[in-house]
Amino acid sequence: MTDVLTDRGDAEQLRSRIAAELERTRARTLLLTEAVDDADLVRQHSPLMSPLVWDLAHVGNQEELWLVRDVGGREPVRCDIDDLYDAFKQPRRDRPSLPLLPPAEARAYLATVREKVHDLLDRVAFDSRRLVADGFAFGMIVQHEQQHDETMLATHQLRAGPAVLHAPPPPEPAARVAGEVLVPAGPFVMGTDTDPWALDNERPAHRVQLPAYFIDAAPVTNGAYRDFIAAGGYDDPRWWSEPGWRHRQEVGLSAPMHWRPDGDGWAYQRFGRWDRVRDDEPVVHVCFHEAQAYAAWAGKRLPTEAEWEKAARWDPATGRSRRYPWGDDEPTSAHANLGQRHLRPAPVGAYPAGASPLGVHQLIGDIWEWTATLFRGYPGFAAFPYREYSEVFFGDDYQVLRGGSFGTDGAACRGTFRNWDYPIRRQIFSGFRCARDARPEQAHR
Ligand SMILES: [Fe+2]
Repeated sequence: MTDVLTDRGDAEQLRSRIAAELERTRARTLLLTEAVDDADLVRQHSPLMSPLVWDLAHVGNQEELWLVRDVGGREPVRCDIDDLYDAFKQPRRDRPSLPLLPPAEARAYLATVREKVHDLLDRVAFDSRRLVADGFAFGMIVQHEQQHDETMLATHQLRAGPAVLHAPPPPEPAARVAGEVLVPAGPFVMGTDTDPWALDNERPAHRVQLPAYFIDAAPVTNGAYRDFIAAGGYDDPRWWSEPGWRHRQEVGLSAPMHWRPDGDGWAYQRFGRWDRVRDDEPVVHVCFHEAQAYAAWAGKRLPTEAEWEKAARWDPATGRSRRYPWGDDEPTSAHANLGQRHLRPAPVGAYPAGASPLGVHQLIGDIWEWTATLFRGYPGFAAFPYREYSEVFFGDDYQVLRGGSFGTDGAACRGTFRNWDYPIRRQIFSGFRCARDARPEQAHR
């Protein structure tokens, strides 16, 4: 599906794939918003998050703007609400005081827009216009809704009250995974020109030369993180960057978000339930500063974004960069903990089939991984379809996160996918793994 589709059979295949992705995604959106009552939908559960009903109608509004109006050239369904659901015009903290569509009206709006989109999908020609080639705009809208589904899941995690979401536990470990993996020095291709639904910030593909480095075979676990806490890591400024220490002091960080002491150990709250902290799960709900402090305490550092991507995509046998650590095939439940199938990270070793050729595990799914890199455009970056997608976020404010979490859908996650957030954020499903430089004599082991 890398070329513009002219063949009729291919176009029909693409149409049905898009329709299936739209349906699958909408089912998740409805599940997340129907799990709570209307009072809960319009409430703001944290100043960091929108009321769920805002996300709901915003998803419909973006679908209307890009597909119904831009691609379809149709009359607006409702242009009176564009400003209300413009993420740039309305800061999250102010959203609950806006005259938002009530839940029933928001649901009806989504359904109306979706009906028009199905109508459009039946007729659209996937010609060479960049917005429609390979169904890009449809893919962008699927990914956008999936991203809001993850945001809504994070809102659920912040919500007080009894549990309303249910999912089976992730698989138990099937392999023993520990230690580090040596990634040899040399070039690799970062980013992509060919992934049809890749977003502007993942492009263009470009060659990056890296010295040899070690990267952890698995994300940092709760057990390892507890050692950092027990060793006084939160009270020792030696391990923290200057802004990190300042932030730690200001807000009184002392453990990951959603943790509380429990007897001689720790418990964590997950979607309304309290459990004893499990040592072999990747740590989640830590901010960049905490990740960086842990890495310094462990005598390591966070990987750069390029190091993360080389570990995830580079195939030493061919020198090629794959779409995913395991190859080019779409993720299945055997490869990675994605798509809200389980509502927590899986223990380390649970996905041997998802490991990279070098033996790095759980790069995709489970937790977003903080990297040492600030969010910038790749050499030759060109904003598409609009500057507000990525470019306005480039600069010194946002750290890149990679790999997706248990809350991320497979459609919005691949080896090239880039997420970004403020270094103080930890309401997202964020964890990390460590890396370190390899000394020259270790580089060709
Ligand atoms: Fe959005």
